[in-house]
Amino acid sequence: MSQTDQPPAHSDALVIFGVTGDLAYKQIFPALYAMELQGSLTVPVVGVAARGWGIERLRQYAKESIKASVGTIDEKALAQLLARLQYVSGDYHDAATFKSLAHALGPCHAPAHYLAIPPALFPTVIEGLGAAGLAAHARVIVEKPFGRDLASARELNRVALAVFPEEAIFRIDHYLGKEAIMNILYFRFANTFLEPIWNRNHVLGVEITLAEKFGVEGRGAFYESAGCLRDVMQNHLFQIVALLAMEPPVGQNFAAVNAEKLKVFQAMRPLKTEDVVRGQYQGYRRETGVASDSDVETYCAMRLYIDSWRWGGVPWTLRSGKCLPETLCEVLVRLEAPPLQLFDDAVRTPAETNYVRFRLTPHSAIALAARTKHAGEGFVGQQHELLLVDDETGEEAPYERLLRDALAGDAALFAREDAVEAAWLAVEPVLKAPTRALAYVQGTWGPALADRLTEGTGGWHNPRADIRSPPDESS
Ligand code: BG6
Repeated sequence: MSQTDQPPAHSDALVIFGVTGDLAYKQIFPALYAMELQGSLTVPVVGVAARGWGIERLRQYAKESIKASVGTIDEKALAQLLARLQYVSGDYHDAATFKSLAHALGPCHAPAHYLAIPPALFPTVIEGLGAAGLAAHARVIVEKPFGRDLASARELNRVALAVFPEEAIFRIDHYLGKEAIMNILYFRFANTFLEPIWNRNHVLGVEITLAEKFGVEGRGAFYESAGCLRDVMQNHLFQIVALLAMEPPVGQNFAAVNAEKLKVFQAMRPLKTEDVVRGQYQGYRRETGVASDSDVETYCAMRLYIDSWRWGGVPWTLRSGKCLPETLCEVLVRLEAPPLQLFDDAVRTPAETNYVRFRLTPHSAIALAARTKHAGEGFVGQQHELLLVDDETGEEAPYERLLRDALAGDAALFAREDAVEAAWLAVEPVLKAPTRALAYVQGTWGPALADRLTEGTGGWHNPRADIRSPPDESS
């Protein structure tokens, strides 16, 4: 395809590779159903997978997926969606599969191909599309992780760019489609009070926790090829870091925001072995698809530095894990203590200082914590939170927003190649020389060794499920 052979404004079909898989069941069908309800799904949907299913089996699968995720079904919208579906069964290595796909696409000449398949198959499918002439005027939507390290990300990019122009490649990081993540951008740059304190002079440290109560849930084989660092840290958590750390963009548009985010990734100091702690929950090695001597991490904690004028010297402590005590994602931006301790109950430890808390999942909220005096004679007080919670009605699911945008050719909420590569560069040293994954008991906050990463910032602050509860200071 020539670099000038651009896709038209809106794709005229959606092709889903891996349509019988877990991602399709959990995220894609519910998103398509929501789009159907909104009237934003207007094109045929062709599912492709190796399983020898027929269209009726696929419709049943889609129906089950939607019923499992939605309370009350709108039968008309469901019927419309099911009528849009077609199914192509075949091996991705076989040119005949792409011929069948071309046949199913019929007169559609500008499809969006969504690769909801194991990353190892991305090159095979991209090259298959190119060879079958299915890439002209088309878009390709690629699931993360984009590559396994810097070299493989570059190689994948080379393969993708040989077939599609950059503007036609949409790299999904579904965190970028979350309402709460977009709210970080809005909260930072729609308010004036934050900017003067949002820097190394006033911020003691930033802590981000993405915790999940559950294990790998049948995704053992995928997880063995990824691990926590590749699965969520280098992408989801780094995207959050970039939004929190970036300089004000010159405009709200994609190019301006991404230019600033890129600088954050570029300023990340490459991680050293001692900055990272890897853990593995007990029982992981008995999961289906997992090696009995696996060293893959289901928990990862890191201390990251951004060597920029704004953030020089501020520790960013990030952690994520499966089989932890809660399912949520939270950011804590801890501020420095006042320069002078005037009162008897003055702030003595970093854990007692003011902070801004962003709850990102499962619901969105922002809390500002400040001390106020108790009534009475003494100058003694307590920290209280001012909680800002928005009504959730109207919140779109990330996949709904991202699929709609990709079909319309809007790349604002997708990851750019240069940023993906800069993020790989920061984690590269620990991918090359990983420490052993330490066993941890399910339902705990991971290996105790991770505590050393928060020395000087008051220890980890374990978020609590109740959105109104400040994090646990006693960790
Ligand atoms: C996915 C990871 O990208 O993100 C999963 O592959 C993880 O392992 C999930 O559970 C978390 O996403 P969310 O939106 O549920 O927080």
